Amino acid sequence: MSKVPQSKSPPSEVPVSSEDSSRGRSWGLLITGGVGGTLVALYAVITPFVMPALRKVCLPFVPATSTQIENVLKMLQNRSGSLVDIGSGDGRIVIAAAKRGFKAVGYELNPWLVWYSRYRAWRDGVHQNTKFYISDLWKVSFSHYTNVVVFGVPQMMLQLEKKLEEELKGNARIIACRFPFPCWIPDYTTGEGIDTVWAYDLKTSNGCEAKCLERTPRTEY
Ligand SMILES: C[S@@+](CC[C@H](N)C(=O)[O-])C[C@H]1O[C@@H](n2cnc3c(N)ncnc32)[C@H](O)[C@@H]1O
Repeated sequence: MSKVPQSKSPPSEVPVSSEDSSRGRSWGLLITGGVGGTLVALYAVITPFVMPALRKVCLPFVPATSTQIENVLKMLQNRSGSLVDIGSGDGRIVIAAAKRGFKAVGYELNPWLVWYSRYRAWRDGVHQNTKFYISDLWKVSFSHYTNVVVFGVPQMMLQLEKKLEEELKGNARIIACRFPFPCWIPDYTTGEGIDTVWAYDLKTSNGCEAKCLERTPRTEY
């Protein structure tokens, strides 16, 4: 009886060399590291922009329009001394004021925006007249500034009004963009719609009540 020749079936799996498997592991590690690193970087960049929304008073980064900046500069005509932008964003108001000769300072919570502001000031050649601090506006004093600019939100204006009243000296001018202070009566108003800007002079009174009683007419600058 003749034996039926047994056919050898081809091996279903090709043996993997140890070199191949370690190459595969390296790729795996590289991809995991890349994805992890990207997620950490995204988290680091995005968090400071999202954080203001999670605070009691939500003050997001909304940059001033060029008309708004022009209106602020109008309110700074014939003014001198130091200037502060409270919540300075990407530094556009501070830089514009520095170009007009002010020693201008910005306080901003978001470190990325502060670093970018410093870069812009350096690029525009005004870094010697500008300073940007990573600070919470509620934790610093603005007592040594004679010109104060703020582009805030309605929910914070009353609290800020009280803070500024306690801190600022009699010759200070406060300029509010887009949202006015609830109690003070503005000495000057300019612009319209979202570009409206109000200026308040603290030269005569330092108290909110006295300021409200002062029937200062609304005037176009
Ligand atoms: C409406 S934006 C105004 C930006 C800039 N002043 C402008 O006019 O272009 C308000 C800025 O305040 C910052 N901000 C929010 N909460 C803050 C806080 N507690 N202290 C300091 N800055 C804050 C935000 O990150 C944002 O950049």
